[in-house]
Amino acid sequence: MNLLLLGNTGQLGWELQRSLQPLGVVTACDYPEINMADADNIRKAVQACHPDVIINATAYTAVDKAESEPELAEAINGRAPGLLAEEARKLKAVLIHYSTDYVFDGNKGAPYFETDLPHPLNVYGASKLHGEQAVQQAGGDYLILRTSWVYSLRQGGFVNKVLEWARQQDTLRMVADQVGNPTWCRMLAEATSQVLAAGVGRIRKHSGLYHLSGGGFASRYDWAKLILELDPKKSEQKIKEIMPAPTSDFPTPAQRPLFSALDCSHFEATFGLQLPDWTKALIYAMEGISRPRLL
Ligand SMILES: NC(=O)c1ccc[n+]([C@@H]2O[C@H](COP(=O)([O-])OP(=O)(O)OC[C@H]3O[C@@H](n4cnc5c(N)ncnc54)[C@H](OP(=O)(O)O)[C@@H]3O)[C@@H](O)[C@H]2O)c1
Repeated sequence: MNLLLLGNTGQLGWELQRSLQPLGVVTACDYPEINMADADNIRKAVQACHPDVIINATAYTAVDKAESEPELAEAINGRAPGLLAEEARKLKAVLIHYSTDYVFDGNKGAPYFETDLPHPLNVYGASKLHGEQAVQQAGGDYLILRTSWVYSLRQGGFVNKVLEWARQQDTLRMVADQVGNPTWCRMLAEATSQVLAAGVGRIRKHSGLYHLSGGGFASRYDWAKLILELDPKKSEQKIKEIMPAPTSDFPTPAQRPLFSALDCSHFEATFGLQLPDWTKALIYAMEGISRPRLL
């Protein structure tokens, strides 16, 4: 199988590059080898590889910055997925694409199903919704996997930030009224690869939109508390107290949904796969930084 992975240096893409290896020949690229804001560049990259599967892990993910760069966010998140889907259809390839819980406004008060009506509150969420629609309208075979609060321990991201703050500050105030599903990018990559391992025919049969994120849900405050508890180098922490705070205390350019947790039962029933509870995944993720390096 010929797999084209776009965005292999991002959180999810980096994990996909590893987990996809047993499935075939993986051609991986990222910016600047490919520019998802350039339609010609996208078409040429796909045609040169002639893939059976395209996996798109690229995205404009700077949620606040998107408010001042709506055109760039729309090109990368809104239009590029549609171009990929068209190219995939012409080659009879399947497209795997990722979207976000931020397509919802968070007013439902319970985990969202695929059938719930999207209503994005910010430019990022709107651009991702346009990307979903463009993939669906292209008429080929695809999986759109909507996920939520993706984290990596490799670089940057929420977990590393919390660990860093705990070493610099006595007290930490964390938003307690934003709730989502923390999703370890490695689990998302593994699940994607397992779906592919069962064959492209299965994806064609079940082509569609699915929710796929870490099990259970949590507020940013709950998440940060568990990160601090699991910190393998707790003795380095300076922090004495972690306190809940409302979103309104931290004004940001982009408005975020308050309760955007996803219900993943449709994916589970279709593919027989389930991401573990977010607490369990976080334990696995943090074990990786607690073990001493061998070399
Ligand atoms: N992160 C989250 O919390 C979250 C939540 C819900 C859904 N998602 C979705 O999950 C997917 C994976 O997200 P992630 O967290 O892995 O994202 P990420 O770490 O920000 O990675 C995105 C990748 O896209 C690349 N990229 C950006 N602009 C590009 C361009 N013009 N041309 C080519 N590549 C470009 C980035 O390259 P550079 O680093 O060089 O810019 C990066 O490698 C995305 O579809 C995202 O929308 C993420």
